[in-house]
Amino acid sequence: KTATNDELHERIRVAKETLGERVVILGHFYQREEVVRHADYLGDSYQLAVQAKNRPEAEAIIFCGVHFMAETADILSSANQAVILPNLAAGCSMADMADIDSVTQCWEELTALYGTEPDADGRVPIIPVTYMNSSAALKGFCGENGGIVCTSSNAETVLKWAFERGQRVLFFPDQHLGRNTAKAMGVPLEAMPLWHGRKPLGGNTAVELAEARVILWNGFCSVHKRFNVGQIEQARRDHPGVRVIVHPECPMPVVDAADEYGSTEYIRKAVAEATEPTTFAIGTEINMVQRLAAQYPQHTIFCLDPVVCPCSTMYRIHPGYLAWVLERLVAGEVVNQIVVPEDVALPARVALERMLAAKP
Ligand code: 13P
Ligand code: SF4
Repeated sequence: KTATNDELHERIRVAKETLGERVVILGHFYQREEVVRHADYLGDSYQLAVQAKNRPEAEAIIFCGVHFMAETADILSSANQAVILPNLAAGCSMADMADIDSVTQCWEELTALYGTEPDADGRVPIIPVTYMNSSAALKGFCGENGGIVCTSSNAETVLKWAFERGQRVLFFPDQHLGRNTAKAMGVPLEAMPLWHGRKPLGGNTAVELAEARVILWNGFCSVHKRFNVGQIEQARRDHPGVRVIVHPECPMPVVDAADEYGSTEYIRKAVAEATEPTTFAIGTEINMVQRLAAQYPQHTIFCLDPVVCPCSTMYRIHPGYLAWVLERLVAGEVVNQIVVPEDVALPARVALERMLAAKP
């Protein structure tokens, strides 16, 4: 017989109570409501990384999010803590768009093109920057090559960090976060060639490549690429005075047309801090938008995409999996543990610690 939701919630509650301080449940804002209600802490990818580092008292961290987040938690948590991903199939299609072999090939091309000698100010020709939404191997690659990790909440701070140390940046996997952030910092679009593996994709000339400031990897988020300018125009027609906020993983024309953009925490805070009843049209994942709408009934809050757009991999964390991993822990068994091998974790930690130390 299949457990009903009520039965599952009760099983989770009982197992959690039995484990007490031994376990901490972290949840990303995109998790479904049935999972979020059991989380000890809810946050964006940056906040969850910080939490994972700062919870040494727990034997196990159950990460209700996607694979790259659990890997990051394993890298930053204490040595004897187990990080558990309730469903191992919860990946991220954007993170899968950059693999270590193609990025290494790209790096070989770029270092052959730009050399490795620092300029008169001590800045190296190119620095790799990876978005948090990437494998541990790519974070390790950045750690080994003088690079750094960023999230959507600190991308500008991190790019500044990189430009203090390098003349150019290779940014992967999300072209949109890279383009939107660099554009806001005044980097011209012509100085941002798109690249994949060994090749620039735009048939760029040698002069264009010499003048490049940010080389963008050809990755994107399949959820955020669904948003378009037409939806913003429609929202403005239907709701005069609407405040449009989108995530920086949206394509550049969408970010340009919006009133504001920012990470999931930025969006949450914008809604939480609005003092007057406001209409918000939000360009991000639907579970988060629906939760905000339920939490702040004084505002009118809707998703820019009228066709529901969940992150299908985040959605794979069903409460049934959460109940299962918790009950196995009660029985003394760790299942679905995410372990990053130490030879990868070591340089990845370097790149993550550089991010945590970079100040706005
Ligand atoms: P945040 O950094 O805003 O949590 O976003 C993570 C993510 O995967 C967005 O698609
Ligand atoms: Fe990955 Fe997009 Fe899902 Fe974020 S919303 S986890 S980038 S697929």
